[in-house]
Amino acid sequence: MRYKVFGKTGMKVSVMTLGTWGMGGVGWDNYDEATKVDAIKAAFDCGINFIDTAPAYNNGAAERFLGKTLKQLGIRNELFISTKCGNFFVDGSTYVRNGHRDAVIGQVEDSLRNIQTDHIDLMLIHWPDVNTPFEETIGALNDLKRDGKILNIGVSNFSKEQIQDAGQYGEIGAFQPQYSMVNRDSEELIRWAASEGMGVMTYGSLGGGILTGVHRELKEFAPTDSRNRFYKHFHEPMFSKVQELLKVMDKVSSENGGMPLSQIALNWSVQKDFVSTCIVGAQTRAKVEENAAAFDRELDASAIATLDAAIAKLDE
Ligand SMILES: NC(=O)c1ccc[n+]([C@@H]2O[C@H](COP(=O)([O-])OP(=O)(O)OC[C@H]3O[C@@H](n4cnc5c(N)ncnc54)[C@H](OP(=O)(O)O)[C@@H]3O)[C@@H](O)[C@H]2O)c1
Repeated sequence: MRYKVFGKTGMKVSVMTLGTWGMGGVGWDNYDEATKVDAIKAAFDCGINFIDTAPAYNNGAAERFLGKTLKQLGIRNELFISTKCGNFFVDGSTYVRNGHRDAVIGQVEDSLRNIQTDHIDLMLIHWPDVNTPFEETIGALNDLKRDGKILNIGVSNFSKEQIQDAGQYGEIGAFQPQYSMVNRDSEELIRWAASEGMGVMTYGSLGGGILTGVHRELKEFAPTDSRNRFYKHFHEPMFSKVQELLKVMDKVSSENGGMPLSQIALNWSVQKDFVSTCIVGAQTRAKVEENAAAFDRELDASAIATLDAAIAKLDE
């Protein structure tokens, strides 16, 4: 595993962060508890020291599972944990943003209980709530920081203007945007955030799994499945375009000793100096180990150029 300093937070984090959205049990494929516990143990064994979660991942279920598992493994204090606030999963399918002071403080207190910890290393505002002034949300987070309940404040899915607005009221140490070979919409914003000293943790690093090459045929996922509702490349016209990209990745793989496509996608992300760590959601030991091994070697410049040429065609 390789490590990078996570911007001005000073945290020295693994270049891969384990994502736990799927472990909440809604919106992704489901696994039994022992399999998921072993995936977390595998992450730790591979040197991953950063885990990302959120109360919105099935209304605290992912956080509770994580808290229970870290306690069972006795590794809470060996890891950095990021969780989020200001986004509520209300009726088993709907996400509601609420950045009001009481909502945020109540949610953070719940997260501390769920994760069975006395502090959260990074608290991100999950999505901007445009109906609540950032002064109020950041003010609440500043108070939690002063009390030692959270150590750093970050934002996710914010625009540059929103980050600048929020940054007037407290230090924004981290940014969590979507970024991968199939989604570079935020690249300019990410470069700017990194240049401002924010740690950058990118999500959807495998494009929700499509970049592993597992999904070669268009499939109808359940309406509540995150691949159906969150990642546009599981729908046409993007799906067919990504299949062309996968063919180029297959070629890069065969030129690189059969390197798994997952590792190609992660190499491509982490080689960017503006990405501190890429978050990957994986719920089995085998997948975590395959992904973590992506950092044992680097794709060379010509392979990256081949990939970039194929990625450019996604925009045509
Ligand atoms: N801030 C936000 O708004 C936001 C939004 C989305 C995600 N996130 C965070 O980022 C994390 C990662 O994003 P994501 O989970 O949406 O997408 P992702 O990591 O791009 O993809 C996850 C999918 O890839 C599969 N997968 C992982 N490794 C694989 C491998 N080696 N071979 C084959 N399949 C593999 C997973 O399978 P299994 O699950 O079946 O193991 C899952 O279906 C989330 O868990 C969450 O922590 C944050």
